[in-house]
Amino acid sequence: MLNKLLFHRFPNIKSWLTRLQYEMISSLDKDKNAIFMNFGYTAHHQGNDPISLEQDEEIHRYPMQLYHHVAKHIEWQNVDALEVSSGRGGGASFIMRHFKPKSYTGVDFSTRAIEFCREQYNLDGLKFHHGNAEDLIFPDNSFDVVVNVEASLYYPNINKFFEHVKRVLKPNGYFLYTDLRYEEKVAIWHAQLKNMGLKLVHEEDITDNVLKAMELDRERRVALVNKYVPAILRKQFYHFAGLTPNSPNALPHLDNRRYWYFVLQKV
Ligand SMILES: C[S@@+](CC[C@H](N)C(=O)[O-])C[C@H]1O[C@@H](n2cnc3c(N)ncnc32)[C@H](O)[C@@H]1O
Repeated sequence: MLNKLLFHRFPNIKSWLTRLQYEMISSLDKDKNAIFMNFGYTAHHQGNDPISLEQDEEIHRYPMQLYHHVAKHIEWQNVDALEVSSGRGGGASFIMRHFKPKSYTGVDFSTRAIEFCREQYNLDGLKFHHGNAEDLIFPDNSFDVVVNVEASLYYPNINKFFEHVKRVLKPNGYFLYTDLRYEEKVAIWHAQLKNMGLKLVHEEDITDNVLKAMELDRERRVALVNKYVPAILRKQFYHFAGLTPNSPNALPHLDNRRYWYFVLQKV
């Protein structure tokens, strides 16, 4: 409740606190377990095959499946891609290895996350830069694809971010975008997205898929918080991870938020 109020009334303070929180995750995660920071995705319960992963990737199945779902709608051959808010780089590395674009640039406003990514990943064509989603420094028409996963909810001015996405995309380039909003804000959010002036190629409410993934991944998340987060901060981190602060083993929830996925194209 406090988070919701803070977010609506004081978006800049919320953004600053978000940054602190993500810097803290990079400091706490000594064993490099938190390379993804999204709620995850599964469609297995709807009869779809799970994606095949290497054994050492299995632990990250659900967050990886979210990236897979986001990425699978386009061709990646010869693509120069930008990911805004790439976090600790798990998604960037996953797309680089599984979809093989020509280059992939991750940007995040957490300095520690960027330092972590630069040390952690060593793949030709994969780069990381410190930067703000609302003030991207890249030239006009420089990317074939822009990816954004579960991050724009923190941006104080989403329209600024959308303007930059449109500006940096090459003609015919794709914006692969997924995030969540409180139910009462979904219509406004959709309208803002349509006002971007890109062609809407695909839109999909994936709330049930995300909730199911959170349920299946709950134990791992609770264990991560318990292992790395000092007791005094645990309730805040449970909340952050979609867990009920006073009862983290209860079914995870999205707090009346809906999770959507969009593919847009600059035509
Ligand atoms: C929930 S995490 C998702 C990270 C990554 N996309 C993933 O799925 O693992 C949100 C990320 O957004 C970043 N972020 C929030 N506001 C930002 C801003 N204004 N500019 C750049 N990054 C931002 C945070 O630092 C954090 O890494």
